[in-house]
Amino acid sequence: MKSKLIIKIIVFGFLAFQFSFIAKTQDTTKYLAQNHTKNQKNMSTTNKFEFRPLPFEYDALEPFIDKQTVEIHYGKHHRAYYDKFMSAIKGTEMEMMKITDIFKNISKYPVAVRNNGGGYYNHTFYWEGMKPKGGVLPKGKLSEMITKTFGSFEEFKEQFSEAGKTRFGSGWAWLCMDDKGKLFVYSTPNQDNPLMDISERKGVPLLTMDVWEHAYYLKYQNKRPDYVDAFWSLVNWEEVVKRYENALKSESLK
Ligand SMILES: [Fe+2]
Repeated sequence: MKSKLIIKIIVFGFLAFQFSFIAKTQDTTKYLAQNHTKNQKNMSTTNKFEFRPLPFEYDALEPFIDKQTVEIHYGKHHRAYYDKFMSAIKGTEMEMMKITDIFKNISKYPVAVRNNGGGYYNHTFYWEGMKPKGGVLPKGKLSEMITKTFGSFEEFKEQFSEAGKTRFGSGWAWLCMDDKGKLFVYSTPNQDNPLMDISERKGVPLLTMDVWEHAYYLKYQNKRPDYVDAFWSLVNWEEVVKRYENALKSESLK
């Protein structure tokens, strides 16, 4: 009788231990699942606006743009715009927005977002539109549209170069496509771009050239026109064609 009671106590104790172990395991699993989701969300937030690596070595654009200029321009100027942009949007709805949607409403946001968000985006676009030993514009839709719009490729180059050379102070020269599919050359001051609602002329950027002094001063000093002429040896036309094809497919034209 006594031994049966002891066996019952042992079995009951064992079952109680098993039950609490299962409950704890379930709690742990739930906690890990929740935490995993939280971490995933944090990670995607953190990585959403990434500071992309330079698509070439610092000295790859020599002799047209020198190594030290690229090093400082990318590592210090571009980096600072990125860091300040991240601080400016921290804890706001913008953390979860596409940068193009932020630009569409830029007049509603603090000026730090306009300056640093523009600086972050424009520089990425500039680096990725260049490559060592830039090529020649391949024949195709973009080439035909440039000739149709500007009369000739040389005339387009002339207009784009002029936009960069005559931009007063600091800014950018652009080749863009508007919402009717028409190409145009434009220039913006400071870190503005044609995606912003404050831009007088709006369009999808296809090519840009930075004409801030920090883009050329070490090598060219006050001779901005020499830097502008050298830029044509670095244009990554394959990338520009890709951007044009994407722009033609984009929602803004529908
Ligand atoms: Fe710059």
